[in-house]
Amino acid sequence: MNKPDNQIIVIFGGRGDLAMRKIVPALYALYIQKLLPERFAVIGTGRSLFSDNAYRDEIGNAVMSHSSETDKSRISDFAEAFNYLAVDPVKIDSYLCLRSTLERLREKISSGGNTLYYLSVPPALYEVIPRHLAAHHYNDQSEGWKRLIIEKPFGMDYDSALKLNTALLESWDESQIYRIDHYLGKETVQNILVTRFSNGIFEPLWNRNYIHHVEITSSESLGIEMRGEYYEKTGALRDMVQNHLLHLVGFIAMEPPSSIDSNSIRNETVKVFQSLRPIKPEEVISNAIRGQYTGAHVKGELLKGYREEEHVNPHSITETFAALKFHIDNWRWGGVPFYVRTGKRLPTRVTEAVIHFKQTPHYLFSQTRISEACNQLIIRIQPDEGILLKFGMKIPGAGFKVKNVNMDFHYSDLAEERIPEAYERLLYDSMKGDSTLYTRSDAVLAAWSFLDPVIKAWHDNHDIPVYGYPAGTWGPERADELIEEPELTWRYPCKNLADDGIYCEL
Ligand SMILES: NC(=O)c1ccc[n+]([C@@H]2O[C@H](COP(=O)([O-])OP(=O)(O)OC[C@H]3O[C@@H](n4cnc5c(N)ncnc54)[C@H](OP(=O)(O)O)[C@@H]3O)[C@@H](O)[C@H]2O)c1
Repeated sequence: MNKPDNQIIVIFGGRGDLAMRKIVPALYALYIQKLLPERFAVIGTGRSLFSDNAYRDEIGNAVMSHSSETDKSRISDFAEAFNYLAVDPVKIDSYLCLRSTLERLREKISSGGNTLYYLSVPPALYEVIPRHLAAHHYNDQSEGWKRLIIEKPFGMDYDSALKLNTALLESWDESQIYRIDHYLGKETVQNILVTRFSNGIFEPLWNRNYIHHVEITSSESLGIEMRGEYYEKTGALRDMVQNHLLHLVGFIAMEPPSSIDSNSIRNETVKVFQSLRPIKPEEVISNAIRGQYTGAHVKGELLKGYREEEHVNPHSITETFAALKFHIDNWRWGGVPFYVRTGKRLPTRVTEAVIHFKQTPHYLFSQTRISEACNQLIIRIQPDEGILLKFGMKIPGAGFKVKNVNMDFHYSDLAEERIPEAYERLLYDSMKGDSTLYTRSDAVLAAWSFLDPVIKAWHDNHDIPVYGYPAGTWGPERADELIEEPELTWRYPCKNLADDGIYCEL
């Protein structure tokens, strides 16, 4: 790994939650690993007046509180690179002051004009900041490159994503735009590509001939915390499925890329999104299940229902749980159902993809249940990152009783390797100009286009139920019926907490 070019990083919303909890700790980790440029400077912006020194103190505190790096001895050297500038992002004249600071720092660190702008601000500002930057020619690449990192969510549906994209492309080139989905920065997500394409044993089986169905779960045990206002407008489908879970589908379902470069990989994932079979409005009721957590006792504590949370409409129909069944219409996946589900206040926090292989053509051991007779490859994204292969073994003794056993690998076994945070990898890549793990506009639009009919039906058709589920359970029972075969069900990494208080064991 070599160092990126010297550069200035401008963080809009430089004192916000994301900047302090994720971006600054990620930069510090890169600093400790000597992966930041030889010379770099950071400008944090915000609307209030604030001094450089006070900002550096905040940076130090953010690293102390949120960095997983054990070496904290270099915080003050690191913080020295930070500068603060008061900019009101909606006022075009407010950007004038950026010029002198950029020029001064450019001289100081010999950046040659290379500048990375990170929009760590609410989505309402994603259009206006790039437009105002361009109006002042801060996007001009005649001296040094200029790049723009845009946080999620990229739009709220197809039309708004298209509008945002069109507005950005009026003054920025697609190659300058880095749309972040932090899931792609996770080691285990990238490892899906390595598992599939560096091992001869999986890829021959990775198709409709051997795979029965694919299941992806991303569950949270937490509720919406203090984010009622945000969540009311968003819901589980937009918050998790459109970006993170469809990206997992993309990596699991893509064809082998011709090489491991940015465009080859992104070309293949976008083909997956474009092959998603549209869900017709009349199919939404049976193929897309929505739910909302209700109050329940979990581990002795009474948890509120969603509609009782702060800043939530007591009659809200915003989903805190979403489960979908869909197909990918191409040669590899014809006839293989994909199931994804995500929710808040489920029994545990886990994200995993499960590849369910078909039963053998003629199964000899009749006493075995189907679920025991089918191999599963479980790709655990978080926590306890790793891979698990479940296969049948004979239980010692008379007859042929078969039991599923595990062959597993945990990242934690690679004790010498620290697993970097997703933001570290993503920031490093954008500083190097590698957009492989960032989302291209065609992928974002294809993902929205697939989900739009569900969003629209859930919004317009009040006959589609919002199923209640007690906090601490695996969502509405109706979601179980998505998997139509009688003996098959979702994989449950641990039991319901609301019913029996059984503690989670993944
Ligand atoms: N926080 C997370 O964990 C997380 C995770 C994934 C994605 N994101 C995305 O990352 C972005 C930033 O998240 P965040 O949690 O840091 O947001 P935030 O704390 O609400 O806002 C970041 C900063 O933006 C500025 N700001 C807020 N409202 C503004 C307005 N109306 N006009 C001008 N400036 C305004 C504020 O800076 P000043 O008051 O200093 O001007 C604020 O500190 C969001 O788009 C979010 O969706 C966040």
